[in-house]
Amino acid sequence: MKALVINGPNLNMLGVREPDIYGRSTYDDLVALCKRAGSDEGFELVDVYQSNHEGDLIDAIQRALGAYDGIVINPAAYTHTSVGILDAVKAVGLPCVEVHISAVEEREDFRQVSYVRAACIATITGEGLEGYAHALRLIKEHIQNR
Ligand code: DQA
Repeated sequence: MKALVINGPNLNMLGVREPDIYGRSTYDDLVALCKRAGSDEGFELVDVYQSNHEGDLIDAIQRALGAYDGIVINPAAYTHTSVGILDAVKAVGLPCVEVHISAVEEREDFRQVSYVRAACIATITGEGLEGYAHALRLIKEHIQNR
């Protein structure tokens, strides 16, 4: 069982960017959390990828086909704009969980749309970085139950 965690724009700035919303933990802390949670859940591999570029995120989703059993994705700002990311997740057909560190449902109107959600088995919001561990657990349960 292998999972790929994909993070979109500005998530490399965790710890620096708007700490009142996203907390003081860094991107390296997030990578470590995903690896640790993955091994706790019995994943043989959890890779963590980040890009600020939409096309690179789409390439990463496409490359996941045949290499991973599931995807955890926080498309960040592209959540609210990208049909391309939605189509890529649909194209590979891997189980995918959408994660947001903040409670997007309590924020601005423009954050209320998520394109990728239509291709995801679950959405997790407002759990901070622990939301990624939750997402990996859901991916594992989905894989084991099918
Ligand atoms: C985010 C929420 C998005 O609206 C925002 O653009 C982000 C991060 C979150 O993790 O809470 O960059 O996806």
